[in-house]
Amino acid sequence: MYDNNPTLTGLNKTMDESRQGEVFFEEVPNDGKRRFYIESYGCQMNFSDSEIVASILADSGFAPTRNLEMADLILINTCSIREKAEETVRKRLREFDKVKQQRPETMVGVLGCMAERLKTRFLEEEKLVDMVVGPDAYRDLPKLLEVVEDGDKGVNVFLSKEETYADISPMRLDSNGVTAFISIMRGCDNMCSFCVVPFTRGRERSRDCFSIVAEATDLFERGYREVTLLGQNVDSYKWENPETGQVVNFAQLLEMVAMVNPDLRVRFSTSHPKDITDEVLHTMARHENICKYIHLPVQSGNSRILKLMNRTYDREWYMDRVRAIYRIIPDCAISSDIIAGFCSETEEEHQDTLSMIEWANYSMSYMFFYSERPGTLAARKLKDDVPEEVKKRRLQEIVRLQNQVSYKHNQADIGKTFKVLIEGDSKRSDREFKGRNSQNKMVVFPKKAGLKPGDYVQVKIESATSATLKGYIVEN
Ligand code: 5AD
Ligand code: SF4
Repeated sequence: MYDNNPTLTGLNKTMDESRQGEVFFEEVPNDGKRRFYIESYGCQMNFSDSEIVASILADSGFAPTRNLEMADLILINTCSIREKAEETVRKRLREFDKVKQQRPETMVGVLGCMAERLKTRFLEEEKLVDMVVGPDAYRDLPKLLEVVEDGDKGVNVFLSKEETYADISPMRLDSNGVTAFISIMRGCDNMCSFCVVPFTRGRERSRDCFSIVAEATDLFERGYREVTLLGQNVDSYKWENPETGQVVNFAQLLEMVAMVNPDLRVRFSTSHPKDITDEVLHTMARHENICKYIHLPVQSGNSRILKLMNRTYDREWYMDRVRAIYRIIPDCAISSDIIAGFCSETEEEHQDTLSMIEWANYSMSYMFFYSERPGTLAARKLKDDVPEEVKKRRLQEIVRLQNQVSYKHNQADIGKTFKVLIEGDSKRSDREFKGRNSQNKMVVFPKKAGLKPGDYVQVKIESATSATLKGYIVEN
């Protein structure tokens, strides 16, 4: 985890940690093409962006490599969400420097949120970086590479009000061939006081719904069986057809993607408690292939803190949304993001967060302690006054409780049978498959002849930890 907290184990790790520094690759024959190496940090959106970058580079004659030493171009897609995330990237850049010392012609580019936040300052701070490219400027990469080849620095951190990369077909990197992300919108207009995202990713804009459905259809035809629709706040998806003036909202988009094929599972992330509508919940209930899982970050269980966070809902509103979910979709699992030790948080207010974890019965959570980010509303207006030891202790309490709740949540599944989409071999053994159920829980079970990733199986659960369900196939 960026906050380097060793107590965070199992499923309840931060989203960042579980995908930190993942390397994308796809080996290619010795075809004389120049090679790029790309490493991604942060949220799923960043990983999705790297696939757009790869596609743009492929069109310019580059091929991907997983081997740093072979790369003509090294790219790092960065995250700014917490200070630790940025430190990790800087450390990695030091390592890239070593490659560059051996092969000075290697180009190094910084992409994503840190590029946007630090802009040209990056070039002063990190002398060996050749290129700084913000999240809305990836189309410009081929031109920026030419600038670098001519001996200059390439910089484009322009944030767009329109760019959605709708027409770019992402190159699926390091893919299992079964599950894929589809970016449906970019940016964020919410202005949560702790969050740097509105500054690094700009204004919210939604992508043409037809290009989303076309991408889902293409993935299905290529054998993929699950898509996750991505946006900082998917519930505010809103696309107006410029020809007809017709407006498509998130519930309608969800239905359109669900109709691509009943065998294509649809997931989405992230939902905002202030925006998730009953229409979305009813759409989920209507379609078996829309997964019964909602990531609904609470951030804090206390109304005063929520107000300071500028989340625009309070504890009661959040509880009402959770009740609506369990009423309309009884078998739905809910997960959360939680921040410990936000500005001026008292012990009692922290207790409200703990009680929310139990009350909402989260299947899992991504948990962080508050890290002040320059330029945010909180950095300008509030004092980061909860001592670090207190933040860490509260985070530990949150993690401990969430682990217990996850464990109970999973134990309650013993004896149940779930439809599982096979994703590949389990981590421990090539005699076992792993896959997820609709509730997004990882399920591990012994293989059976004739089955392969992308197939659905019915698995009966025999045992469970706080992170994984284990079972056996009852029918194909
Ligand atoms: N400090 C700690 N956690 C943060 N998050 C966002 N900004 C911060 C911050 N400054 C968390 C929120 C968000 C998740 C992606 O990261 O919980 O939902
Ligand atoms: Fe990190 Fe947020 Fe940027 Fe994603 S959008 S990479 S979580 S700062």
